[in-house]
Amino acid sequence: MKDAEPKRYFLKTFGCQMNVYDSERMAESLAREGYGETDNPEAADLVILNTCHIREKAAEKVYSDLGRLRDMKERRRKDGKETVITVAGCVAQAEGAEITTRQPAVDLVIGPQSYHKLPELVARSKSTRTNIVETEFPGDEKFTRMKAPRRIASPSVFLTVQEGCDKFCTFCVVPYTRGSEFSRPVARIEAEARELADAGAKELVLLGQNVNAYHGEGAGGRSANLAELIRVLASIGGIERIRYMTSHPRDMDNELIAAHAEVRELMPFLHLPVQSGSDRILAAMNRKHSAAEYIDIIARLRKARPDIALSSDFIVGFPGETDQDAEETIALIKAVGFAQSFSFKYSARPGTPAAGRDGQVPEPLKGERLQRLQAVLDSQQTAFNAQSLGNAVPVLFERIGKSGEIVGRSPHLQLVHAVGPGDLVGRTARVAIDDTRRSGLSGVIAAA
Ligand code: SAH
Ligand code: SF4
Ligand code: F3S
Repeated sequence: MKDAEPKRYFLKTFGCQMNVYDSERMAESLAREGYGETDNPEAADLVILNTCHIREKAAEKVYSDLGRLRDMKERRRKDGKETVITVAGCVAQAEGAEITTRQPAVDLVIGPQSYHKLPELVARSKSTRTNIVETEFPGDEKFTRMKAPRRIASPSVFLTVQEGCDKFCTFCVVPYTRGSEFSRPVARIEAEARELADAGAKELVLLGQNVNAYHGEGAGGRSANLAELIRVLASIGGIERIRYMTSHPRDMDNELIAAHAEVRELMPFLHLPVQSGSDRILAAMNRKHSAAEYIDIIARLRKARPDIALSSDFIVGFPGETDQDAEETIALIKAVGFAQSFSFKYSARPGTPAAGRDGQVPEPLKGERLQRLQAVLDSQQTAFNAQSLGNAVPVLFERIGKSGEIVGRSPHLQLVHAVGPGDLVGRTARVAIDDTRRSGLSGVIAAA
């Protein structure tokens, strides 16, 4: 049965880059089914929330959105229009049928490994008018069966190469929401990268919850590591830049460090979360490395690539964290020097080992520790950006900004604003940096 009017979908993405990638793939498969995109949920026949479960706030936001969507669905029904409300992503995987109990307006709950079934399940939900919950873990089916052609919205594209995590940090839901580690075969990633390059991609951002644990099937059925994968992708014509995230310190092997010295396309920037600078807390988090080992990895990276810039994630207020532990984290930050970072208050997540532990830190104390930590990180970021003042920095332009300037990224992932022609989007040009702040750089085009 065909609707008289064209079908439209509204898709909202929460959480990490892996969700952004999945949303892009879902959008492509919906386009193939004849759906057009809308940024107005009131106009959508299909609403998808691609959700994140990492911290309580992220998960709760979904339910407040769903409350509004329920009212909207009701209004549309009065106008004779049907709406299929879909919850995808990590809340879908973690909570499954609980979601439809808590918010019965939800028609479809679909976990991250089942997106290839999305069009089919939407159709089934419409015809049966029942709630559907699909949270199986069928391995790599998602990637092999999402066959719609890749489109690009920016010259910098995400490419998921690995999914899942076997590390089981005691605070984290990811091993439960994304399942165990799985790496896509090199040949499939290469084919997708070529398709993206043909569509105009200049930068590949290789994604995985544990991307440097990558061990996909390579040439001759042999297992290939991330360093080998990067070398294969770097040889694709048109690909000028490669990045990868997120890495774990335990998987930062010598070959990958050597790739930073040798592969010109690999950008001098690494996001390597450390979470804490206290060995006691690192052990309680099950991170399986010490603060000194982390600092040693950074030293080896800097030896291989002296201009490499670092970024990290930090958690403050993990159960049992003392003032002394918090000070040790600040000492580590001062010892390393980060170009940017993300820091969070510990959020107890249902089903994770740390959630039920003694020594939960009161919220106000977490807030104080976070402020102190962020003050140090902010001043490091400001100082890092200030080093670019007066330099001519190669910028890959990604888009036209709100006030008409062109916006791109430096090799060190700094956001750069410049005045220049819109046709520089998709190209790299040198920008003479004449202003810096914590949030980024700005300047004038020096040479294309
Ligand atoms: N795989 C990556 C990142 C996973 S989630 C890694 O190993 O580092 C992204 C970040 O969210 C984590 O690095 C961590 O800093 C933060 N995070 C994860 N669980 C959290 C929790 N329960 N409370 C607060 N922050 C959390
Ligand atoms: Fe979560 Fe730890 Fe796995 Fe990262 S390594 S996804 S923080 S369990
Ligand atoms: Fe969130 Fe899932 Fe990513 S919990 S951070 S969307 S892997």
